[in-house]
Amino acid sequence: MAKPILVANWKNHPGSLPEARTLIQKFSRQRALYKKITFFIAPPAPYLELVATKAKSFAKLASQNIFEQEKGTHTGEITPEILKSFGTRMTIVGHSERRALGESSIQTANKVRVALKAGITPLVCVGEDVRDSEGEHFEFLREQIKSFLSLVNKKEINKVVIAYEPVWAIGREAIEPVELSQTIIFIKKVLSDLFGRALAENVSILYGGSVDESNAQELLHTGVKGFLVGRASLNAKNLESITKSLITK
Ligand code: PGA
Repeated sequence: MAKPILVANWKNHPGSLPEARTLIQKFSRQRALYKKITFFIAPPAPYLELVATKAKSFAKLASQNIFEQEKGTHTGEITPEILKSFGTRMTIVGHSERRALGESSIQTANKVRVALKAGITPLVCVGEDVRDSEGEHFEFLREQIKSFLSLVNKKEINKVVIAYEPVWAIGREAIEPVELSQTIIFIKKVLSDLFGRALAENVSILYGGSVDESNAQELLHTGVKGFLVGRASLNAKNLESITKSLITK
């Protein structure tokens, strides 16, 4: 069976290069542990090289964003080609914090497309802002998945990883395992409607939103293949515990 996946989303932390170096040194003491899973670190862009070189023996490189066009002149953007040159293997796309800054569904769909073209795995984040008792968030989720994956064809879907990240859970409190199980089934159903059951079955789905050492174990028995972790990924001890949960699943 494929190894569980853990993606450390550092967001805009730590605040300086020396601190990032220290964090990697702490992670590397548990190198043997991280090698038992598929471990990605998604650092702020200025630390890409640091992670690419210093964490090479136990982590793969992920980016937090990717520019949706391959060519042209675009101040401030990081193209798939540049990411590739650092050895980037995965890119987070459609994160709710990017969408809150104005990233549209078309942009997200294009980011998925250019990442696939460059051979970088898109980690496509989906998730409702709020839940309601009528279950309308399921409809929201369906439409979001459809639009973010609108430029993906059947041959490519097995190269996509989905991260279910309910926006209300990010930086607050994780989802209840029973609700997560239901949502994973729903996402698989939507993928199956879009790409066929056999292909949908093989798509890895991660969960993100306040995962930490206290809840990782219970959230794992819900059909997820791993986690996308924000805050807890900045604490070496906490991340170590989450990883141990993934291994003993
Ligand atoms: P969190 O962030 O683990 O701090 O909730 C997760 C994310 O935003 O990817």
